[in-house]
Amino acid sequence: MVAKFDVTSDTATQPTEQMFDVMKSASRGDDVFSTDESVHELEKFMADLMGHEAALFGASGTMTNQLGLRCWLLHPPHSVLCDHRAHVHLHECGGIAYHSQAAVTPVIPTNGAYLTEEDVRANISTDVLVGAPTKVISLENTLNGTIFPIEEIRRISDLARARGVKMHLDGARLFEASQATGVNMAEYGKCFDSISICLSKGVGAPIGSVLVSDRKTIAHARHLRKLMGGGWRQAGMLAKAALHCLHTIVPTMPATHKLAKRLADGLVGIGFKLLLPCQTNMIFVDFSPALVSDLATPLLKDYDIKISNNPGSSVCRIVLHYQIPSSVVDQILEVAAKTAKDKQITRQIDSAICSTASSASSSVIDLSGAYPSL
Ligand SMILES: Cc1ncc(COP(=O)(O)O)c(C=O)c1O
Repeated sequence: MVAKFDVTSDTATQPTEQMFDVMKSASRGDDVFSTDESVHELEKFMADLMGHEAALFGASGTMTNQLGLRCWLLHPPHSVLCDHRAHVHLHECGGIAYHSQAAVTPVIPTNGAYLTEEDVRANISTDVLVGAPTKVISLENTLNGTIFPIEEIRRISDLARARGVKMHLDGARLFEASQATGVNMAEYGKCFDSISICLSKGVGAPIGSVLVSDRKTIAHARHLRKLMGGGWRQAGMLAKAALHCLHTIVPTMPATHKLAKRLADGLVGIGFKLLLPCQTNMIFVDFSPALVSDLATPLLKDYDIKISNNPGSSVCRIVLHYQIPSSVVDQILEVAAKTAKDKQITRQIDSAICSTASSASSSVIDLSGAYPSL
C-alpha cells in the first residue's frame, strides 16, 4: 500500500504526469554504446555543473559510489577512509570489500558532526609493511541531513592532494547542501576527484544517479558499469525525466528545508528531543517515552501519512521532499502534541538539540531504529 504522504525517505517521491510527458520527448539510442542524446545531455549538464570533464549516468547511488571508488582502488592492499556513519561503508552491502578488495577505516568525528582535517590526518594509513594504505578519502554531504562545511572539505582536500590520496564524494544529497548554504556545486566539485550525485532522492527523479570525474576515469567507470551488469540500453527517457527534475525541483529545496525546520522546531516546542540538528530536509527525533508506533498508527489511519516505524523504537527519521505539503507538518505536529499530552511529556527545550550546527553533540549518537527497515 502506498501512503499518500510518505516521509520515511526522500526516495519516496512519485513520478508525475509531467515526467511521463517529458519522457515521450526522449531520444531512443543505446547507452551501452553511448549513443543516446538525452543521456549525453544529462551527463554534460552534470559534468558542467560540477566543473568536471565528464559524467556517467547509472542506475543507483550505490552503483555510482562503488564505481567511483573502484576507479581509484586498482590493486590491494589498500583502504578507504570515511566517516563511521558513511553510506558507502554501512549501507552498500559491503561493496567496497566486494568490488574493490579494499579495507575501510571508519572514523568517528571528534566534533560529533563531521570529519575534520585533524581527524583525517590522524587516521590516514601510510604503512606499506603491514597496513592497508589509504588510497581514497570518501566524504558524504549531506550526512544524515547535516551539512559538511566547505572550509573543512577544502582543508581535507588539500591534505589528500599533498599525500597523493584521491577524494571521493558521496553527494547523494549534495543539491540539498548547495541549496541550503548557497555554495556553488562547482565549488564542492573542485575538492573531489569523483562525485556521485543521486537524482532519485530530493531531486525527485524516478531512477538514476550520476558519477562525475575526469574523462579517462569516466571511460573506466563505463567499462566497470558494464561489468556490474549496469549497462542499460534505451535510458534516454530516464535521463529526460531527471533533467526535468533538475530544472524544476531543485529550486524548491529551500522551501522544503524551511518546512523541515518548522517541523523540527515544533517537535522541540512540544518537548521532544532532536538527535541531530535539522539543517536540510531530515529530522532525527526521539519520541520517548512514547514509541514511534504511538504516532505512526494514527498518522497513517487519520491522515494517510507514513513515518518510519521500527518496532519498539522511540527514535525516528523524518524526511521531507517537494511532494510533502505544509498541511502534513501541521498534522504530524498535531498528533505529536496529542501523544505528548497522553504520555505526559514535559517540555525539555533546554536539553533538546536546537536546529543549529554548533549544537552538535560530541558523543556518538545512537540512531539505531531511526531508519525504515529494508
Ligand atoms: C547518502 C547516500 N548515499 C548513497 C545512497 C545510495 O543510493 P541508492 O539507493 O540509489 O543506491 C543513499 C541511499 O539512500 C544515501 O542515502
